[in-house]
Amino acid sequence: MGFNIKSYLASKRELVDRKLDSLLKYSPKSITPLEESIRYSALSGGKRLRPILMIAANEAFGGKDEKVLPIACALEMIHTYSLIHDDLPCMDDDSLRRGVPTNHNVYGEAVAVLAGDALLTDAFNIMIKEGLESGLRPKILTEIVSDISSAAGSGGMIRGQAIDLALEGVNDVSVDQVEKMHSLKTGAMIEVAISVGAKIGGANDKQLKKLSVFAKALGLSFQIVDDVLDIEGGSDMGKEVGADARNRKTTYPELVGLKKSKRKAEVLTKKALKSIKDFNDKATPLREIALYLTDRKF
Ligand code: IPE
Ligand code: IPE
Ligand code: MG
Ligand code: MG
Ligand code: MG
Repeated sequence: MGFNIKSYLASKRELVDRKLDSLLKYSPKSITPLEESIRYSALSGGKRLRPILMIAANEAFGGKDEKVLPIACALEMIHTYSLIHDDLPCMDDDSLRRGVPTNHNVYGEAVAVLAGDALLTDAFNIMIKEGLESGLRPKILTEIVSDISSAAGSGGMIRGQAIDLALEGVNDVSVDQVEKMHSLKTGAMIEVAISVGAKIGGANDKQLKKLSVFAKALGLSFQIVDDVLDIEGGSDMGKEVGADARNRKTTYPELVGLKKSKRKAEVLTKKALKSIKDFNDKATPLREIALYLTDRKF
């Protein structure tokens, strides 16, 4: 039977959703507004791309899903926090996320900020506790925790977000600057998802280098497609269309146009696939995800 990317994504998404639900269980009788708002954002859909990439990268080296699942869910918690904060009035001021009103629109700004803080902080505790329980050795776990904090922190995603805000309304931004911003705000988390999955699966340095090329190309392509969808996406996006123009963001299509942006995303996908061409069949999900993401509509 051939590989079906849609059913692969659906089954891994379900795996991640179930684990996240159990990691974020609070006492239903005495649930607080903070806990409610954490669950609201973390469990209201989302493609679960980063955890699925981690699972697929681990699988490419014969690793079992259970071994990466807690780390994959922790990464998704960090991603979810970044979305809650990204939507705040002081940032992108968005009212719709994952098909529902944004966290701050439902729970207020203060609770939304705290829900993000909690998701970020608790993610690290989950990585350590659940990572050890799932059989990761302290040495590799320490390395992974360091990799993930670097990717999410002031030298990675947060740095990219700061550049994104600093470039609002600025003219004469270069393509290089936008690519740098994209590879930080979005690429860093995608890259770390893949490298951590591969490390847990037992990839060697040469394989990790090839995967780094794959992940860098995929990360940039993913944000370029996100920029394109912000202009011409439909209602299945689950988030507001036209938000970038409203915020006077510097985006890829704004600089080079829609057609060239789409072409660039395709070229990057080809580059990604080429970099892992000598990997065996176990890398099929990884390859298929790359292809699927270029053509995505949400
Ligand atoms: C949105 O990420 C933010 C970007 C980095 C473009 P996703 O498109 O992965 O959002 P969800 O997780 O599916 O909601
Ligand atoms: C956000 O990029 C990247 C993050 C680190 C959250 P965008 O601001 O383009 O993401 P969306 O379009 O709101 O999902
Ligand atoms: Mg933003
Ligand atoms: Mg945004
Ligand atoms: Mg966007």
